[in-house]
Amino acid sequence: MLTSKKNRLQELFTAGVMGRQCFSCCRVVLLLLLMSREVHSLSVHIVNESPVHVVPGSTLLLRARIQQGPLEEVSMVTWEQEPEITEAAPTGVLASCPGKSFTCSGSRPNVLASVEQQEATLQVSGYKRVADGGVYTVTVTERAGTTATAYCVVREYEAVHHVSVSINVSHSSLVCGEAWGTDPHFSWLHERAPVSTAVGKVSKDGITLLVTMSPICGHFTCVVSNKLGYSSATYTADPCETEGSRGTTAVVVCLVLLLMIGAVLAFLLWRRRRQNQRAESLREPLDGYI
Ligand SMILES: *[C@@H]1O[C@H](CO)[C@@H](O)[C@H](O)[C@H]1NC(C)=O
Repeated sequence: MLTSKKNRLQELFTAGVMGRQCFSCCRVVLLLLLMSREVHSLSVHIVNESPVHVVPGSTLLLRARIQQGPLEEVSMVTWEQEPEITEAAPTGVLASCPGKSFTCSGSRPNVLASVEQQEATLQVSGYKRVADGGVYTVTVTERAGTTATAYCVVREYEAVHHVSVSINVSHSSLVCGEAWGTDPHFSWLHERAPVSTAVGKVSKDGITLLVTMSPICGHFTCVVSNKLGYSSATYTADPCETEGSRGTTAVVVCLVLLLMIGAVLAFLLWRRRRQNQRAESLREPLDGYI
C-alpha cells in the first residue's frame, strides 16, 4: 500500500519533469524554426508605385528590390506580363535572368532586364498603348528552390479629357469635372486671373470652387492639367459691374446728352435763319416798286 503510493508519487514527479522538459524542448525547436525562417526569408517587392502610368512612346522602367537570407543565393529572376483586360492577347515571359552572371535574355528587342546585388530592373522602350500595358510580375528563385513574387499594374498615361464646369446653386459653388486623364491637377481662374480670396475658396483637391463674391458675375474657368497638357472649361455668369464699366456708361450718357443739346441748338439756328431769309425775300419786291 505504502510502496504503491510512493511509486505513484514518483511517477507523477517524473511525468512532471518530463512534461517540463518536453515543453522547453518544444520552445527551442520553435525558436530554431522561427530563426531559420528569418534566415531563409526571401522576398521581393517592386519599388514603383502601382499602378505605373507610362506615356506612349516613352520607356517603362520597373525596379524590384530583392531581400534574401545570407546563406541563400538567387538563381533566377523572371519578368512576366499579363494583360489586365482578359480580351487582350497573353504575352507571357518578357525576360529571364538565370545563372550567376545574370545575363538576361529578353523575349523582344525593346525589352532589357538586369540584376545587380539586390535589385532587378526591367526596361521596355517605345511603350505601346495596349500591347505593353497589364500586370507585370517578377519572380525570384533561390538555389534551394524557394520563390518570391511581386507584381504591379502598368497603364497608359492618358491626356486630360472632357473638362466641364457645373454650378451648385444651393451651395454657391462651382464643380469641375474631368473624364479620364491621368493625375489631373485642377486650378481656377476668374476673368483670366487666378482666383483671389475676394472671389472664392478652392477646395483641397481643387475640384470645387466655393464662390464668396456676391452677386456671382463674370467668367469662371477651370483648368485641368497633367504631364501631357491641359484642357479647360468656362462657366459664364452675368457680366460684372466694374468701376470701369460704370465710368464708361457715364461717359456715354454725357455724350448722348451733348449730342441732343447740339441737335436742338442746330435746329433753332436753322429755324432763325429761315425766318430771316423769308423776311428778306418779302422785302425785295417792295424795294423794286420804290
Ligand atoms: C451641392 O453641394 C452639396 C455639398 O457639396 C451636395 O450635397 C449637393 O448634392 C450638391 N447639389 C447638387 C445639385 O449637385
